[in-house]
Amino acid sequence: MRLVQMSWDIVQEDLAALGHGAFDRLFMDHPEIKDAFGPFKELSKDNIHFDRELRLHGVRVLRTVETVLDCRYDCVRLVRLLHNLGRKHVNYRANADYFEIVGRQFILVIASVVGDKWTPEVEESWSHLFTFVAYVMREAMLLNSLSNP
Ligand code: HEM
Repeated sequence: MRLVQMSWDIVQEDLAALGHGAFDRLFMDHPEIKDAFGPFKELSKDNIHFDRELRLHGVRVLRTVETVLDCRYDCVRLVRLLHNLGRKHVNYRANADYFEIVGRQFILVIASVVGDKWTPEVEESWSHLFTFVAYVMREAMLLNSLSNP
């Protein structure tokens, strides 16, 4: 987490650009995933609004990273927050299989901003963070499907 925090201090200057970049890149590399974001279409009046919602979601993903960093010494609270987020994603009909891909795209964009301070160890730490977030969110989604078959 120390390595994530160090690179976070660099990238947090412009979360909006980072969030936008990650989603633009996600849909360029994985156009098939765009359909998974169908609920955003329902929330949007038109295509411009849809793109704006998606990009805002990119910032929300990054705010989740910030929450993990802020709460990392309080595991009970952290897991509760991520479970809550996972349960919300059941309502958004998000496919948990895509969480890892979303995380991977964010890592690629973060790496490009961090530049020559990016190392394999930093990448591994970010990968752990996104794997953890995806795991706990998915766990809540699975628990939810057990209690609401
Ligand atoms: C396939 C993957 C995903 C889909 C389809 C998806 C879809 C959605 C939708 C439809 C919303 C509601 C619109 C909004 O408030 O912006 C939302 C909200 C949100 N998403 Fe995602 N999401 C995905 C992955 C993730 C991941 C991996 C994270 C975190 C790392 C995340 C974090 C959030 C947050 C923080 C919110 C706001 C929740 C609130 O209402 O308080 N999402 N997502």
